[in-house]
Amino acid sequence: MNPAFYLTILFVHNCTSLGAEEARAKKFLDGLNKRAEDRTYRLKMAKWGYDSNITDSNLQQVITVTSKLSEEEKQDWQELMKFDWQSFQDYDLKRQFEKNSHLVLGSLPKDKIKRYNTIVSEMTKIYSTSKICAFDDPTKCDLALEPDLVNILANSRNPDQLKHVWVEWRNAVGPHCKNLFSEYVELGNEAARLGNFTDTSDQWLHSYEDSKIMDKVEELWKQLRPLYLQIHAYVRTHLRKTYGDLVTEKGPIPAHLLGNMWSQSWRNLAKFILPFPDKRDEDLTEELKKQNYTYLKIFKTAEDFFKSINLTALPESFWKNSILKKPADRQIVCHASAWDFGNRKDFRIKQCTETTIQNFVTAHHEMGHVEYYIQYKDQPITYRKGANKGFHEAVGDLISLSVQSRKHLRKIGLLTSQDDDPESTMNTLFSMGLEKIVMLPFTYLMDLWRRDVFKGKTTPDNYNCKWWELREQYQGVEPPVERSEEDFDPAAKFHTVASIPYLRYFVSIVIQFQFHQAVCEKAGQFVRNDPTKPLHECDIYRSTEAGNALKKMLQMGSSRPWPDAFEVLTGQRHMDGTALLEYFKPLQNWLEAENKKTGAFIGWEKSTKAELICTFNQGDFNLRSVWHGSVAVRVVLEYHKPVHPPERTSPTST
Ligand SMILES: *[C@@H]1O[C@H](CO)[C@@H](O)[C@H](O)[C@H]1NC(C)=O
Ligand SMILES: [Zn+2]
Repeated sequence: MNPAFYLTILFVHNCTSLGAEEARAKKFLDGLNKRAEDRTYRLKMAKWGYDSNITDSNLQQVITVTSKLSEEEKQDWQELMKFDWQSFQDYDLKRQFEKNSHLVLGSLPKDKIKRYNTIVSEMTKIYSTSKICAFDDPTKCDLALEPDLVNILANSRNPDQLKHVWVEWRNAVGPHCKNLFSEYVELGNEAARLGNFTDTSDQWLHSYEDSKIMDKVEELWKQLRPLYLQIHAYVRTHLRKTYGDLVTEKGPIPAHLLGNMWSQSWRNLAKFILPFPDKRDEDLTEELKKQNYTYLKIFKTAEDFFKSINLTALPESFWKNSILKKPADRQIVCHASAWDFGNRKDFRIKQCTETTIQNFVTAHHEMGHVEYYIQYKDQPITYRKGANKGFHEAVGDLISLSVQSRKHLRKIGLLTSQDDDPESTMNTLFSMGLEKIVMLPFTYLMDLWRRDVFKGKTTPDNYNCKWWELREQYQGVEPPVERSEEDFDPAAKFHTVASIPYLRYFVSIVIQFQFHQAVCEKAGQFVRNDPTKPLHECDIYRSTEAGNALKKMLQMGSSRPWPDAFEVLTGQRHMDGTALLEYFKPLQNWLEAENKKTGAFIGWEKSTKAELICTFNQGDFNLRSVWHGSVAVRVVLEYHKPVHPPERTSPTST
């Protein structure tokens, strides 16, 4: 035999025997991805059916479908685990196997899967269908969160009316969800443990592929908090001018006065509080209304921006199947969402769109999700996800940063009066700060609270107490009336009842400014140290360079760890608040000077209003502390010291 031939045979033989298992695995994976596509489609159809038409029979349909799908999923998973995938050589194969190797909900016994799904749907239903009575007319009891309560909080300056709406919404939702929620926590944890996680919060953080992600977020928060404290102090000073002693000079701000049901964005205050009131622009909501921005025109305007940077137009089916305004003939889940049906062509948005600037921004946000779906649709379904969850939330917001620049608003005719002088620009930056900076502590504490709940550190008898501790510690807000454990205020927020993690929004805010800086540089709209091209004035409209760079990152989906995707667009591998601080630099300087001038107190002292009942379990101690008035507070503070170091009483000290 020809020795060369012999060698070749040997080589080929070796090669195939090494790869046989992986070749078989590859084939299995292809089949799995196809079946997962099909399952995604069936699941999304059932869920859409319910979310867009809340009825008992549609709920039953969701429960039936999810139970069936869990079984199929489990079979696939059992097959998958027969492979020795951890020893695979092929990077991509191994990565896809890893991503499919955690069976969480599907590991539970059937009746528990059913119960879990029933609970989450039930809580979502309570949240989505609750109505309250009007402040000035107790016989009018059909006020819905969207649009009625949202509008009252945005526009009313009557503190009694605001308090009424704030309290009644929590009465309508919280107590009805509390038992369901604690049962959900138990079941969720049980499933997470079966899926090889410590608990649900551990499971939620897994997709970041960084075991230190919470520490990183804490570090970022420390970097950005000084700016938050400046806004907080400035707003409090001005709210005192309106509400007098309802707002104390040095305390946390009452949560119902901030223009938003959860005090998570204070942007609606920009109507009342601006750095330079004489330079007030036309109100953007009024302008949208005046210019007949229907829900359709809002979405078409958003699509136009995406198209202008060479991203993809939305398919005909999107316009046909989406629900872009609130239907009159049925109850739906109004909380805005974007949907990928897994079949590479059906993408939808569901949003109860009103003609307001918030909804205009939300439309861009949701469309960003859809654009991501479209860009990564040719990846195997295992990778059809954001590089991490924060990326997915950041795409539409990134576009919004350009859209809301004065330059762009002028281009599309929403801004017509005034110059773009430094004072008008400061007003714009202030509005953006009320949205972006203010959002940070809330996005962080939502999952801090749930982390401790899932870890069993926070138990049902101190759910609400711990919630308000975090609200005060991070946001510097306090409830307008006394709260107790009869109340369950975390449930008044959609993501709590719908079981949607929230840390993604924190990550999103930080990285969208890093993305913004990167695309603006590519568009030639931002030049470092060039005062004529500051980051906050950048508009990437019509820049295909910017769009193509973004597209490249989006197309990767989750096929690589997120730092790889991050690097493709930004050249960096780390989250960092510097870009955000760069954007807001003029505002920060101005606020610091202004707060100094007025002698505003920076930070906040302990709330004296809240009555909270907390049970602390710490080693041998089981302290039951009642907070009531300032005398008792002093006692509580002593109890607290060993539990939480000084930060919680005075964040200014750190
Ligand atoms: C809502 O669902 C019910 C079934 O529960 C169905 O009869 C009805 O036609 C649906 N309505 C719409 C508008 O789809
Ligand atoms: Zn989103």
